[in-house]
Amino acid sequence: MIRFENISVSYDQQPILIDVNAHIKPGEFISLVGESGVGKTTLLKLIYFDVFPNAGIVSVAEYNSETIKKKDIPKIRRKIGVVFQDFKLIEDRNVYDNVAFALQVTGAKRNEIGKRVLRVLADVGLSHKRDSMPEELSGGEQQRVVFARALVNEPIVLLADEPTGNLDPTTALDILQLLKLINSRGTAVILATHNYDIVRKAGGRIIQIKDGKVSEIESI
Ligand SMILES: Nc1ncnc2c1ncn2[C@@H]1O[C@H](COP(=O)(O)OP(=O)(O)OP(=O)(O)O)[C@@H](O)[C@H]1O
Ligand SMILES: [Mg+2]
Repeated sequence: MIRFENISVSYDQQPILIDVNAHIKPGEFISLVGESGVGKTTLLKLIYFDVFPNAGIVSVAEYNSETIKKKDIPKIRRKIGVVFQDFKLIEDRNVYDNVAFALQVTGAKRNEIGKRVLRVLADVGLSHKRDSMPEELSGGEQQRVVFARALVNEPIVLLADEPTGNLDPTTALDILQLLKLINSRGTAVILATHNYDIVRKAGGRIIQIKDGKVSEIESI
C-alpha cells in the first residue's frame, strides 16, 4: 500500500534519508522511532506528498512520487489521516463543526456528514462534547477532536506524529488505545514517537531510523 524504493532525501545538501526501502501493508500498525532530527517527520511527509525524494520512488495506493499530478495530491490526501503534534482546531467553531469541516470540503452530502461526524465523535468518546468550543476542552480532549477530524474521511492510513507529546502518561495511554481501536477497524497506523513505553505497549512492527537508514527492530 505504501512503498519506499531506494529513497534519498536531502535538505540543503545535507542527507537525511539514504537509500531507504520499506513496505507498509494495509491494516498494519507501525511504530516509527529514532532520535530527534533523524527524519521521522520527513518520512511521514513523503507519504503525504508534502516532501518529494531527491532519488527513488514513494508509492501510496495508486499514486507515486514520480508521476503524481498536482491536482491529484488533494485526492490522495483525503485517503490519509494526519495528526501532527502542532495540531490546530478552528477556535471559533465547536467540536462538531471542526470535524464536519473535513467532510464539507470534500462536497459530502449534509445528512451523510451528520451521520459520519456523530459516529466518529462516539469512537473517540466525545459525543457529549459535540457543542463545546475548543477552549472548553482539555488538551487530551482537543487531541481526540483532531483524531476525529483525521478519521472522518475513513482514511486508508493514519499518520500520527508524536501525538502523545504534550500529554500526561495516562492520557497518552488513552491515545494509544484509540490508535489501536482505529487500527482494529482496518486503518493502517504509523505512529512516530519518542515514547518507548507507548511503543512497547503498541504491538505491531517497529521501524527505526538511524544514520539515514531504516531498519526493522524486534524490540526497544
Ligand atoms: N524544510 C526543511 N529544510 C531544511 N532542513 C529541514 C527541513 N525539515 C527538516 N529539516 C531537517 O531535517 C532533519 C530531520 O527532520 P525531521 O523533522 O524529519 O526529524 P524528526 O525525526 O521528525 O525529529 P523530531 O523527533 O525532533 O521531531 C533535521 O535535522 C531537520 O533540521
Ligand atoms: Mg518530528
